[in-house]
Amino acid sequence: MNSAFSLICLVILSVSIQYSSSKDAAQETVSKHGKLSVNGIQLVNQNGEAVQLKGMSLFWSVWMPQYWTPATIAAVHDNCHSNIVRAAMAVEYDGYLTNPATQMQMVETVIEAAIANDIYVIADWHDWHGEDHVEQAKGFFEQISKKYGGYPNLIYETYNEPLDISWSSVVKPYHEQIIQVIRANDPDNVILLGSPHYDQELDQVLADPIQGQTNIMYTLHFYPVDTKQWLRDRIQNVMNNGLPIFVSEYGTCAGTGNGTIDAAETALWWQWLDQNQMSYVNWAVSDKDESASVMIAGTPDYMTCTDEYLSESGKLVVPQNKK
Ligand SMILES: *[C@@H]1O[C@H](CO)[C@@H](O)[C@H](O)[C@H]1NC(C)=O
Repeated sequence: MNSAFSLICLVILSVSIQYSSSKDAAQETVSKHGKLSVNGIQLVNQNGEAVQLKGMSLFWSVWMPQYWTPATIAAVHDNCHSNIVRAAMAVEYDGYLTNPATQMQMVETVIEAAIANDIYVIADWHDWHGEDHVEQAKGFFEQISKKYGGYPNLIYETYNEPLDISWSSVVKPYHEQIIQVIRANDPDNVILLGSPHYDQELDQVLADPIQGQTNIMYTLHFYPVDTKQWLRDRIQNVMNNGLPIFVSEYGTCAGTGNGTIDAAETALWWQWLDQNQMSYVNWAVSDKDESASVMIAGTPDYMTCTDEYLSESGKLVVPQNKK
């Protein structure tokens, strides 16, 4: 072996080692992992290996439409180092209920940009009163599953955050109806399901889980100023008892979206999530003047998550997505 050849071998070897040990979410994309499924409590890739999705939620479609663009979605992958984006489509507040065509077009733009950028995408029915809008939700998921259900990129989230209502008599029957609509068109992409009290009352779900379905996961939302070790303990327990959990939304601050950023508690959450190979999606791609925003005011869409436009929260979240 001559020395030039050895050097080339060494470079190839070190590049491949670096690649295979990287957890930079920007490198763990759809072309690598393919169709996802749920094995026990673990999200797995097309080869049955554990996979972790790390990324960003867009802000409410009705209030940050300027970031529901292909340029933002490209930047969510390239600059926010994400392999997933969540399309948080507003239902109320002049959202889908009153402007279904506009909202559907925005969601389709994001889904198609996610496919073009090789990342996973969550079609999120971003509602606090899903049980009051069942027919509209069925119509939305019927259309989305019919048009995009064949793409491995797509993940459904049927109900953002139920409030303090009953799991067994209200939320569970809602999900069962929506699952049936989705499964008529799409037999296997993952479906995410919300639970009472902002996706934190997972004990109610554990007592009465949905039966006879595959590739479903329950969502957990957390905000470290409000939710600490007690919530990790609760969720650890439901996972130990077999419930698959997906963090479709979390912030670095309080649930109000503003105020103090708790970097230390956020780090504890990330450590626990990584240990359990759980997926997590940060709230939010926004330049609103509040702590949860990943960007500072006036950030152009194509500059999403570039260093000079990152907020205090963004400076924590983007390096975490890269780890
Ligand atoms: C968030 O808090 C900051 C600091 O108190 C304040 O200036 C800002 O207006 C708040 N944002 C919103 C959206 O209320």
